[in-house]
Amino acid sequence: MSEEQKMVKAFIMGEAYDVPEGSTIIMAMEYAGFQMKRGVGCREGFCGACATVYREKGDYKLKGGLACQTVVTDGMTLAQIPFVPAEKPIYDIKELTPDIDTIKTLFPTIFRCVACNTCTKACPQEIKVMDYVQALKRGDIGRAADLSFDCIRCGLCALRCPSEIVQYNAATLAQRLYGRYLNKKSPELEERIVEVENGKYEKELDELVEMPREEQSKRYYAREIKLK
Ligand code: SF4
Ligand code: SF4
Ligand code: FES
Repeated sequence: MSEEQKMVKAFIMGEAYDVPEGSTIIMAMEYAGFQMKRGVGCREGFCGACATVYREKGDYKLKGGLACQTVVTDGMTLAQIPFVPAEKPIYDIKELTPDIDTIKTLFPTIFRCVACNTCTKACPQEIKVMDYVQALKRGDIGRAADLSFDCIRCGLCALRCPSEIVQYNAATLAQRLYGRYLNKKSPELEERIVEVENGKYEKELDELVEMPREEQSKRYYAREIKLK
């Protein structure tokens, strides 16, 4: 680090530390000497492992965010959440029907939603969480699956819900039901399966496995992402 590196004060798990300005919460915690074993994964905003709650100096609001994406500000108080305990029903997707009765049986809590929109405000992915919960209440599984598509299961919505709904597990059920029973067949997918089975990608895959880490990284960030 250069000598001019500016520092900010952060209160991490109740103790004050000077950490480099511009650090994400994960970087600040590691700089402060915390060894991250739980509550961290991809460090890129994709895995949802790093839910964190924090307050900024002079602000009364308790905020939530991803520790790998949220930058520490001077005077911030923060606590990292290693895991969000959540209710998760066990089911066999093959025995379910894609309708409102399944939602009622497996996620009766959904019907306690008071439409306060707290979950939507809490979501770091800017997902319309309340809207997908409302879609589930109407039995509109396709809409719920679609609206929740980018959910990374960080748990921040469930942490703030006054009705104690575990929105993301209900979204997972909607996505599974949609994928198994409601989604139209995709000719592109069928084609791709045949290509994979015929070994079309074997050579490229072998090259990737042998490739140095830096080159893999370069390729990864240069890739095209197809949006829905
Ligand atoms: S819907 Fe909930 S679990 Fe999914 S990304 Fe948003 S806050 Fe996280
Ligand atoms: S926070 Fe809970 S009660 Fe409020 S809108 Fe979201 S699911 Fe409904
Ligand atoms: S570590 Fe994966 S989303 Fe933050």
